[in-house]
Amino acid sequence: MLAQQQEADMNVVKQRFDIVDKATFRNGMSRLGSAVNVVTTRYGGRSYGFTASAVCSVSDTPPTLLVCINRASSCFHTFENARHFCVNTLMPGQEDISNHFGGKTPMGDRFAIGDWRGGLTGVPILADASVSFECEFTNSIDEATHRVFFGRVTDIRENEARATLHYCMRRDLNG
Ligand SMILES: Cc1cc2nc3c(=O)[nH]c(=O)nc-3n(C[C@H](O)[C@H](O)[C@H](O)COP(=O)(O)O)c2cc1C
Repeated sequence: MLAQQQEADMNVVKQRFDIVDKATFRNGMSRLGSAVNVVTTRYGGRSYGFTASAVCSVSDTPPTLLVCINRASSCFHTFENARHFCVNTLMPGQEDISNHFGGKTPMGDRFAIGDWRGGLTGVPILADASVSFECEFTNSIDEATHRVFFGRVTDIRENEARATLHYCMRRDLNG
């Protein structure tokens, strides 16, 4: 009897999960809004980067953040093998960099726009980013289509101008 009840409960849970389709989920999430970042790394003498809104603070003790990357992305295996990465949070006016790193531009051409310098660990740092977080990979977990990377923040560079590019309702917002 208990087993039957458990099975019935599981079916309710399963049905509830099935109710929210991909488009409904995406529409809902589009309202949350987030900063626009270009996450970079350096591996085998080459630079790699992609636009990411799924970046989040985890802890300040020790300073830790997370980044979610689609495992189907062209640079996933590079990030999987690299030791360091950098989260470059964009400024208003850097929408072209967001589009460039968020589209299908070949990796070899992505760093052609923007003033990129080498950080302490060699990772590409955008000189005029709102803020750059240089990180060491510490941990990761796979969830659905993505991998969540955790990084220990080893250096931070802040822009004197107090502004950040935000993305909400499927468009860039200055602010
Ligand atoms: C505003 C914006 C936010 C994005 N956020 C993420 C993200 O958090 N994680 C991710 O894996 N891809 C994200 N993307 C998509 C990647 O930037 C994009 O898939 C990648 O650069 C291109 O894929 P490719 O490297 O396979 O060519 C975002 C794209 C845009 C335009």
